[in-house]
Parts: sequence; structure tokens; C-alpha cells
Amino acid sequence: MDQTQSVCSLIVAVLLGSFPLLLAAPQPHIVFILADDFGWHDVGYHGSEIRTPNLDKLSAGGVRLENYYVQPICTPSRNQLMTGRYQIHTGMQHHIIWPCQPYCVPLNEKLLPQLMREAGYATHMVGKWHLGMYKKDCLPTRRGFDTYFGYLTGSEEYYTHKRCYHIHPLNLTRCALDLRDGEEVATRYEGVYSTELFSHRVTSMIEKHSSTKPLFLYVALQSVHSPLQVPEHYVAPYSFISDPNRRLYAGMVSAMDEAVGNITLALQRAGLWENTILVFSTDNGGQTLSGGSNWPLRGRKFSLWEGGVRGVGFVASPLLKQPGTISHELIHISDWLPTFVGLAGGSTNGTKPLDGFNVWNTISKGFASPRLELLHNIDPLYVDEGPCHDKEHQLTAWAQSGFNVSIHAAIRSSNWKLLTGYPGCPKWFPRPGNSSFMSKSSQVPPLKTVMLFDIEKDPEERNEVSAQFPTVVEYLLSRLYYYQKTAEPVYFPADDPKCDPGPSGAWGPWA
Ligand SMILES: *[C@@H]1O[C@H](CO)[C@@H](O)[C@H](O)[C@H]1NC(C)=O
Ligand SMILES: *[C@@H]1O[C@H](CO)[C@@H](O)[C@H](O)[C@H]1NC(C)=O
Ligand SMILES: *[C@@H]1O[C@H](CO)[C@@H](O)[C@H](O)[C@H]1NC(C)=O
Repeated sequence: MDQTQSVCSLIVAVLLGSFPLLLAAPQPHIVFILADDFGWHDVGYHGSEIRTPNLDKLSAGGVRLENYYVQPICTPSRNQLMTGRYQIHTGMQHHIIWPCQPYCVPLNEKLLPQLMREAGYATHMVGKWHLGMYKKDCLPTRRGFDTYFGYLTGSEEYYTHKRCYHIHPLNLTRCALDLRDGEEVATRYEGVYSTELFSHRVTSMIEKHSSTKPLFLYVALQSVHSPLQVPEHYVAPYSFISDPNRRLYAGMVSAMDEAVGNITLALQRAGLWENTILVFSTDNGGQTLSGGSNWPLRGRKFSLWEGGVRGVGFVASPLLKQPGTISHELIHISDWLPTFVGLAGGSTNGTKPLDGFNVWNTISKGFASPRLELLHNIDPLYVDEGPCHDKEHQLTAWAQSGFNVSIHAAIRSSNWKLLTGYPGCPKWFPRPGNSSFMSKSSQVPPLKTVMLFDIEKDPEERNEVSAQFPTVVEYLLSRLYYYQKTAEPVYFPADDPKCDPGPSGAWGPWA
């Protein structure tokens, strides 16, 4: 090798060695804020009477996701966020995890924070876990989070941080603390409103974060789930709302909006914002029994109607290539895992087959979504909850499809949505403040066992068109049949009486 050659190869080696470093963008900080039971009509930019200046402003400068889907209840949405997989594939397709049920997201599932940690991230979680805790191996600190502060079940009080639950095998209602700092019970926070407690925890964590390490921060707020509790000063601006539930709920939304504003401000002050991707998402549709509204969408939380599954969501970040846009591309909560791992430059090696897609180019650059189909759920054990009273069924002629159409299920493919069985409360709830409850547009026609809607033309699910498009029905039934064959059996164990924390204990691992 002569001298010129060796100089050349030295230059090539230097270029090869350093170019990837020069070209690779720094790993972005990722902050995911999950609201609880926040409805479609409860955000200012959807025309709500509730004021959400921070959510409006952040999303206006980011990308609003208007064809974005979540699951109809808490545990399933969180399960899919953490695994990138449909809940039929984890055996968790039926319901939430109740405080005494001895199970959690299967321990052979590799979770999002584990993947982010492998990609070099600091991983922190604040707020609601609700993915199982009967034994220590199920806890967030054992499933990929460096730190955790929050509660393990759902539905507790905002000030006492207690959760009351009827332990059926003991025929006993137990009210016990559910708040932990890491794995230790946190007893010092009685009387502190959880929205403030959690956002304060998050902002101080951001202040302490060393900006040399990329940050993955999962903030699962208690807001705005029932019980309806909120400091009075948040409710005061809503004296014009006559429904007392809606009024309190509006105050809770304002507190949450302020929390999101505080978190954003902390990221800016810490100098992290320029390299941050902030995602805001609800976990399911609003609960009309507790002040929420999904108007004009049909149904509510716990149903497979759009009111249960079409979620408020947006991305705010200086890294977006087309900020200030609205995305109508199909995106689902299971898509965040591959999207975040992709942004982190990490690998999904070690996960089971993913149902989610990397949708970053769709969000950031407006590309078509790689997602063409979305399984909303298949739950053979579904039973409706809460007063609703509209349960008429008619049998239709699709019994030979292979898929048992009496099963509660729904699937989306491009503009089409097919529902089978009883989808859950089928009402159109009126716009808040509009008392014409018996108006014609609220009356529910008899339900069919198989229903087809063109969601793009008819997002309110008013015109059932299965008779006009039999080949679409047959195709979607064949897809449900396919998915059902890939499903794990439902795992929904009975309460274990050993869960009882006793009169002075706290909910937590018992096995
Ligand atoms: C459960 O307890 C209540 C009151 O403590 C009692 O009235 C009821 O009979 C009990 N039910 C069963 C099934 O033991
Ligand atoms: C937001 O920050 C302000 C100023 O520190 C504080 O007074 C307020 O309680 C915070 N709000 C929430 C919801 O944490
Ligand atoms: C995936 O992980 C396995 C087990 O840790 C390892 O043997 C394999 O080399 C990895 N594959 C890739 C492509 O990183």
C-alpha cells in the first residue's frame, strides 16, 4: 500500500467512523401524558364549553390526531401502550384488573420502558399503573422503569389516595391507601390533590434530569376519572354549567390542563424542550355517568362505539416537520411502542409480534398511515355496566361466517367499521347544556347483531349499512375470524382473598 492509498483509507475510515455520529439526530426526550376518561367533547379545540388553554395551544402548534383510537377502558389501553400488542394477544381482552385479581400483564411480554432503557434512556413513571400488582415482579419498577411514583389500581380518592373495594370472597369492603414511591408505600401525601401531587413530582423530576441522557417519562394522570373531586378555585369559572357533575368535571379538566401547562413549562425551563416529543392522549372515551361527554359521537366509555374508542390525542414538539397540522390518518394507541422505539434508535428485539406500527412519518411529515386496519376488540365475556336501557337485539343472516357474531367485537378497515354482538350503551348523549334529551336525534333504533358503518362519512354511527355492502361485511367478518383464531384465551381470575391489606395496610403485592 503506498502512502496516498493509506492516507485515503485513513480518511475513509475516519469518515465512516464519524459520519454516523454526525448524521444521527440526538435521541429525543419523550414525554407521554395519559389522561384518564377524558372525553371527545371535553377539550376546548373540539368546541367544548370547558376551557383547556394549554391543551389548545400546545396542540395548535403540534399535530392534532383526529382519527386516533384507544381502547374503551383503562387497563386495555395501558396494556396496548406498554406492549404494542392487541389485548386479544395478551389474554386481557375482557376487562380491567380489579384490586384482588391475581394477575398482571404477562411477565413474558417485554414492555416499552424496557426497550427504551435498552436504547439508553432514563425511564420514569408517575401516576396510574393499573397493569397488575399481585406480586412484586408485576410492579413498574420491575418492568423497565428506573423510578415510579403513583398508584397501582384505579378509581381512588384524589385527596386521601385510598381505594375502596369489595373483596367478594371475604364479603368485606376495604378502603386502603394506594400510593407508592418506588416500591414503598407513600403515607405522607394525605390531603394533597393528586393532579397537583403528580404534576409537581413530574416537574421536579424534569428539573433534576441531566440533559445528557435521553428521557422517557410516562405521566399517567388520575385526572379526570371519577370520583368528582377538585379544589373549589378550579370550579369557580364554571358557574354557568347547571349540571353539577359536569361543573365539577369541568373544574377537574381545568386542573389537568394546568398540570400539562406546568409540565411543558418545566421542560422549557430545563432546556429540554427543543429536543422533546410530547404526546397527550386519553385512555378511553368520556364517562357520561360522571360528567364526561363525547358529543357528537355515539356511546361512551366501555362501549365499542366511537364515543368509547375515538380518543383525544395530539403531539407537540419542535421536532415535528409539519407543525400546526391536523392528522386524519388512522393511528392507534398500540402504535406508540414501535414509534417511540424507532425515534430512540432502539430495537424491538425481544417483543412478541407487534400489532402496532411506527407512525412517526405519518405524524411528523403527513405521510399516509401504515395502519390500514384496526381491531378494536373481541371480548366473548362482555356484559354492559351502568344504566343505559337500550338493549334490543335482532338476529341477522351472517351466522355462517365462521365468526360467532353474538360476540362483542369491532374492527375497522379504512373507512369501514363492523360491530358484532352488543357493543355497549348505544345512545347518542346530547351536547352538554342541551336538555332536549328526548329529541329525535337521540332515539336509538333497534340494534342488529352485525352492524356496518362508514365512519369517514358517518362518524356518529347513525346510518347502518350492512344490507347495502354485504361483501364488505363478509370481508370484515373473515378478518374477525382470523383474529379470533390468533387470540389467547381470556384470563380473568377470581378475587384472591389474600389481597386484603387489613384495616391499616395499603393495596399492593401479596403473592
Ligand atoms: C355479606 O355481609 C352483609 C353485611 O355485612 C350481610 O348482610 C350479607 O348477608 C353477607 N353476604 C354473604 C353472601 O355472606
Ligand atoms: C402549576 O404551577 C403553579 C405555580 O407553581 C402552581 O401554583 C399550581 O398549583 C400548579 N398546578 C398544578 C395542577 O400542579
Ligand atoms: C435479539 O436478542 C437476542 C436475545 O437477547 C439475541 O441473541 C439476538 O442477537 C438479538 N438480535 C438482534 C437482531 O439484535
